[in-house]
Amino acid sequence: MSLLRKKDVHQMMAASQGAGVLRKELSAFDLTMLGIGAIIGTGIFVLTGTGATVAGPGLVLSFIIGAIACGFAALCYAEFAAMLPVSGSTYTYAYATLGELVAWIIGWDLMLEYLLASSAVSVGWSGYFQSLLAGFGVHLPDALTAAAGARPGVDTIFNLPAFVIAMLVTALLAFGIKESKRVNNVVVLIKVAVVLVFIAVAVWHVKPANWSPALPYGMDGVFHGAAIVFFSFLGFDAVTCAAEEVKNPDKDIPRGVLWSLGICSLLYVVVSAIMTGIVPYMQFKGIDHPVSLALQVAKLDWFAGFVDLGAILGMLTVILVMTYGQTRILFAMSRDGLLPKIFSDVHPKYGTPYKATWLIGSIIALIAGFVPLGTLAELVNIGTLAAFSLIAAAIIVLRKREPNLPRKFHCPGVPYVPALAIVFCVFLMGQLSWLTWVCFAVWLLIGLVVYFGYSRQRSLLHKA
Ligand code: ALA
Repeated sequence: MSLLRKKDVHQMMAASQGAGVLRKELSAFDLTMLGIGAIIGTGIFVLTGTGATVAGPGLVLSFIIGAIACGFAALCYAEFAAMLPVSGSTYTYAYATLGELVAWIIGWDLMLEYLLASSAVSVGWSGYFQSLLAGFGVHLPDALTAAAGARPGVDTIFNLPAFVIAMLVTALLAFGIKESKRVNNVVVLIKVAVVLVFIAVAVWHVKPANWSPALPYGMDGVFHGAAIVFFSFLGFDAVTCAAEEVKNPDKDIPRGVLWSLGICSLLYVVVSAIMTGIVPYMQFKGIDHPVSLALQVAKLDWFAGFVDLGAILGMLTVILVMTYGQTRILFAMSRDGLLPKIFSDVHPKYGTPYKATWLIGSIIALIAGFVPLGTLAELVNIGTLAAFSLIAAAIIVLRKREPNLPRKFHCPGVPYVPALAIVFCVFLMGQLSWLTWVCFAVWLLIGLVVYFGYSRQRSLLHKA
């Protein structure tokens, strides 16, 4: 039965108040910016090209399917986060509802998502950064441009720009959430402006003939595309990781989650329609700067450098928020005794979990430096889809088990909306490769070993 032991919701709220807690600095606007900061990045700037080659102009539908799946999940997230504004996001909600073992699995699973997403986006950032440098005639030595084996025919060893950017972001986060928030807000405004200007400039160059055939690979292509571009939407969930640092969590968190997802979904659908309307979809094959390609085809080269800059800044905030989310989940797991205490030590002056931040930031930077991450977007996706499904299930369970808990935000249409979230997520998981499934299974297995070998005996609930 100890596997099912649950945390008391009221005790959790108490633990998030008082001494040694995180500083409350964030508003609904900051959260929306945090969400957009985490959402718009590698997905729209890099993966749209891959998506277009498997879905054709149907990519627009892929984005709509991804948005619907995330929309259902976001409503579930919003209900939980407003009810339990404590650090740790899904992990914490599961601890209160489904018990310690499931919570551990979700926390372990999210670790994979945020950690690898931060590394993957650092690598994507490095590619755009090097292309910008090349524009000024600056070239790094080959050995330092990518991880070993990442570029066929080139002797690469270490991705230096990816490593450096991940470490810089880490330093920023360790320094303080207030400073990080300011940087994030400015950068988000710039990247949204870049996307809006892209739309305004490029829309006039669309040739509707490029949209036909609309579904060259049928609905199979559309679904496969949706499983790939799902990565583009990740990040709205990271908003809930900030719950404990929000001034008015009950109203602001649902707003932050839903606004950021809504705004980005709209932008994605419009951008993907424009891109497939400018470039015949076959030409996206093997292209990792698809937005720039669209501009070149439209003979708007002058604008491509501007977009590169937007992509570089855009990906920077994705790394920032994803790394941030990761440290807050470790913080929560450590505070519960499931991980060593070092992860929840808060800096006396800056009020941040600085040890966890430096440790995890260094791991992210090393992975970004040494590992070619081409296929890791899939791994990130499977981890996230699994977490979304579990959280949707938890909403249904908690409505039955604890009907009287004060809910400041109600997910509409329970149990149907959470059930649809599960159906969509499991369906998209089914579109991913078997190799991804195997890696995911191995990661979960390691997690179980750690849980039974370390965490279970050290859990605060166990001691209590
Ligand atoms: N949604 C984030 C991106 O596309 C992870 O980079």
